Amino acid sequence: MSAQPNFDRIAKPYQFLEYLTLGSTLQRCRTHHLPALLQQKSALVLGDGDGRFLAQLLSSNPEIRVDAIDTSRTMLDLLEARCKAASPTAAARLTTHQADARRFVQNLSPDKHYDLIVTHFFLDCLTQPDLEALIQAINPHLAPNALWLLSDFRIPTRRLTRPLAQTAVRSLYFAFRLLTGLRTTRLPGYTVALTAAHLVPVAVHHRLSGILTTELWQVT
Ligand SMILES: C[S@@+](CC[C@H](N)C(=O)[O-])C[C@H]1O[C@@H](n2cnc3c(N)ncnc32)[C@H](O)[C@@H]1O
Repeated sequence: MSAQPNFDRIAKPYQFLEYLTLGSTLQRCRTHHLPALLQQKSALVLGDGDGRFLAQLLSSNPEIRVDAIDTSRTMLDLLEARCKAASPTAAARLTTHQADARRFVQNLSPDKHYDLIVTHFFLDCLTQPDLEALIQAINPHLAPNALWLLSDFRIPTRRLTRPLAQTAVRSLYFAFRLLTGLRTTRLPGYTVALTAAHLVPVAVHHRLSGILTTELWQVT
């Protein structure tokens, strides 16, 4: 398992820095599939950062209960405050865990099942072996027909946008390395691991000429 990054230092300016560089594009990715999540009852949300997605999930789906995992205490504090402001019942439905998601999923109780997993811009913090181990560990805890919602950067195949995407992703990893100590240097692939866990993509939406993707996968 690779060393754990520390996002505490950038938690507060995170939203401002994001809007400065990419405007509202990332938030539009995070919330694009929200209307498909209104029937879900139990979610595991990994590395949601300052909670801008989770606040919207809790306010749009009044039934859902959520375990939110993040290593950063500052991110979790922002997330809790934002969720409580968004929904009066959030406090009762949200449990936060300051933990390394890679360890948290290994220690889930066997009778714990989720019908929604959310990893927005989180899988790209992991190395390929860590990503595969994470998906494998979550697999037995997926309820029938469970959904997995993810957003991530991607390298498109088109000749014009490919070098642009490669440069953008390299620069982002460099910035995160300086600011958080993140050691990951390349985007891990999740398609094979999710497919091996019996999930299939049911909705895929690209933004920014295919440099961003938001995808909904479902257990078959
Ligand atoms: C790149 S940020 C993404 C935040 C948010 N999901 C978004 O859409 O922008 C990664 C988040 O995952 C958390 N994180 C990184 N590695 C982690 C790990 N191994 N376990 C739990 N949280 C982690 C960071 O603290 C941070 O909040």
